[in-house]
Amino acid sequence: MNIRSQRKDDHVALALKQDQFDNDFNLMKITHQSLPSIAFEDIDPSVTLWNQKFSYPFYINAMSGGSDKTKETNRKLALIAKRFNLAMALGSQHAALKDDSLSESYKIVRHTNPDGFIMGNVSANASLSEAQKAIKMLNANALGIHINVAQEIAMDEGDRDFTQWERNIKDIVDNLSVPVIVKEVGFGMSIKTVKKLKSLGVKNIDVSGRGGTNFLWIENERSEEPRFDYLMDWGISPIESLLMNRNEHQDTLILASGGVKNPLDVVKLLVLGAKSVGISGMFLKYAQLPEEEMMEKVGSFIHDFKLLMLLVSCKNIDELRNLDYQLFGKLSVYHEEK
Ligand code: FNR
Repeated sequence: MNIRSQRKDDHVALALKQDQFDNDFNLMKITHQSLPSIAFEDIDPSVTLWNQKFSYPFYINAMSGGSDKTKETNRKLALIAKRFNLAMALGSQHAALKDDSLSESYKIVRHTNPDGFIMGNVSANASLSEAQKAIKMLNANALGIHINVAQEIAMDEGDRDFTQWERNIKDIVDNLSVPVIVKEVGFGMSIKTVKKLKSLGVKNIDVSGRGGTNFLWIENERSEEPRFDYLMDWGISPIESLLMNRNEHQDTLILASGGVKNPLDVVKLLVLGAKSVGISGMFLKYAQLPEEEMMEKVGSFIHDFKLLMLLVSCKNIDELRNLDYQLFGKLSVYHEEK
């Protein structure tokens, strides 16, 4: 197996093994209201992004592809996306851009879900022509560009020169016709980062924050010389990122992800302004199950999400965004009356 394929399998194996890290979800509470006025049948959890209607306000975030094992994971994730009308992002396609024999491990998603909304994925090292090839490989509806400096520094074989990232991002954003989403990989985005991305013309951002899959932990485990234990709480949680950037939402489509494990986590990120919520680690766990059980798990997650909408008496996601909430601990510095 080549080194890139091996790395993909290592990432999945370690992500599945990873313990829980501190995410700030318990520092935010949605305020309980006791007098609902809707029925379960009235609930419509759909959202429209990029002129496309999705049945639910969450999507399968970038993870997989580049090896035989991840091909099967991609197939199962694509089955979920098809059954429940969710957008699905693929993992970094560079393995297949370098070695075409690996492209089937990504294309399986298009074969499985021919009409689905599929997002390709490249790193910020990618040139415009690599980005175009990545889109063509999947007939992708959108492209994610991952920015993952914290992961790279902890990788023995990681990049050490990031001087071309901004130029590459601008070049891709300026010249592609599909939506381009610049995303973190689980370390969150500060106001400075978001402002800089906006100045490069970026219109879609996934702040992908700390508290879920932790690539500093994963790469430290893979390293010949593990030494970054002291960086395990590095980064900004998605909740903090959304709060920090709440004035940046008007002209930018902000997505959020990182550490989402239950329907209440999704509600919290939507309330803080995320237009949709990305979920990786949780779907990866579901994709390890036999197909029927996997579908049952996703179905019950969705059912419970709708029950939460009933709990807070919201018929649709726009109403949900207006819920009252309280912030605690370090998040309380962001508190303001609505
Ligand atoms: C990822 N993630 C990721 N992101 C990306 O843009 N390109 C990639 O190739 C990968 N690869 C990858 C592999 C695996 C196994 C996992 C679990 C994740 C990052 C992912 O999209 C997301 O930003 C983080 O995982 C945080 O979300 P969760 O996992 O906490 O829901």
